[in-house]
Amino acid sequence: MLLDFRSQSRCAKMPRVSLLEIPQAEKKSFQRRLLSWFSARKRDLPWRGTRDPYRIWLSEIMLQQTRVAAVISYYERFLEKFPTVEALARARTETVLARWAGLGYYSRARNLQRAAKEIVAHHGGKFPRGYEQALALPGIGRYTAAAVLSIAYGEPLAVLDGNVARVLARIGAVRGDLRASALWRGLEAGAQELVTRKSPGDWNQAMMELGATVCTPKSPRCEECPVSAWCRARKLGIAAEIPEARKKRATEKLTLAAAVLLDPQGRTFLLRHADGDGDLFSHLWQFPAMETSAQAGSELQNHLHNRFGVTVRGSTVSLKSARHAVTFRNIQVWPFLMRVAQLPDFRGAKTVPLKQIGGLPISNLTRKIAAAAIVHFKAEGGLTGTKTRTLENHNGAAAKA
Ligand code: ADE
Repeated sequence: MLLDFRSQSRCAKMPRVSLLEIPQAEKKSFQRRLLSWFSARKRDLPWRGTRDPYRIWLSEIMLQQTRVAAVISYYERFLEKFPTVEALARARTETVLARWAGLGYYSRARNLQRAAKEIVAHHGGKFPRGYEQALALPGIGRYTAAAVLSIAYGEPLAVLDGNVARVLARIGAVRGDLRASALWRGLEAGAQELVTRKSPGDWNQAMMELGATVCTPKSPRCEECPVSAWCRARKLGIAAEIPEARKKRATEKLTLAAAVLLDPQGRTFLLRHADGDGDLFSHLWQFPAMETSAQAGSELQNHLHNRFGVTVRGSTVSLKSARHAVTFRNIQVWPFLMRVAQLPDFRGAKTVPLKQIGGLPISNLTRKIAAAAIVHFKAEGGLTGTKTRTLENHNGAAAKA
């Protein structure tokens, strides 16, 4: 039978048939096949050689919304700086964000540190073992709680992320929007039925690994799959059609004009919240900016005058525009270089040499704008009294000018 959830309402009851329908007698061989495949084929990743819940938790948070290859160097450099929960808890948030810079989705870093503080204050510095206690920590949802508790402590809790959901949906030939709540709950129940009691951490990682490397969204490599004998989608020849494409949220375009103010000492002016882009990059340092519909240098000058009392000396230089995509927003920024005799003294703002902003928590977008300003200086013959260089963040990722 092909299960079809498309017509189910959000509140529909869970289907009584098991999603997977793997006969009980065969469940053991299914588990054995997948676990031995994982033990032979698993990628050698830095968080796989530890049972330290802090390190596993950190990897799981970094891996949310970020590819494995991109995470590795951030993970190692983050642990160099914050090797323990205590070190993370007592660090300045600014320093934590600077180490996170480039990974994006900064609320992950802020929640990580908030949770570290709670763990130190209420759990003796050790990630709690109980599911409910873990869920009560900032930034820990069902996925992360199950991942950390199963991998670090061997708790038999199944994870369900996009990779696991796809694997399960194909095995059960389940159609419909996997993220629809009734279906997602069905998949959670299916995942929980399968999890092994003996090595739930390996089991969960094996399921995720299979989804990431073999049972991929496009062109699944069914001939390499250790559990293809149980896969109903494969039997029906519909593996590539599952999961069905989700309706995408329409992308929004956002155009900003940003000011790189520069005083005679080569210093610039940064804020935590730029006007016009709300909380997009909250808590990160950024150039003053405003939303605009066109290249609006003079509008920006007026805005700077009204808001910060800045008077620009001489002409403004229009720099190379920068683009950045965050979730459903496509942002285009028109940066302007504006020389001023003196930077404004504004509460909560920062004055810093332009060439040093790579050491602060800034977004990649801010890094690109700074790089465009530095390119301009190079062409002009260099910053007075400063050396120009590639802007690097703490993780060695350079914003190429
Ligand atoms: N994706 C997120 N966490 C993972 C893990 N521990 N193993 C494999 N893939 C993952």
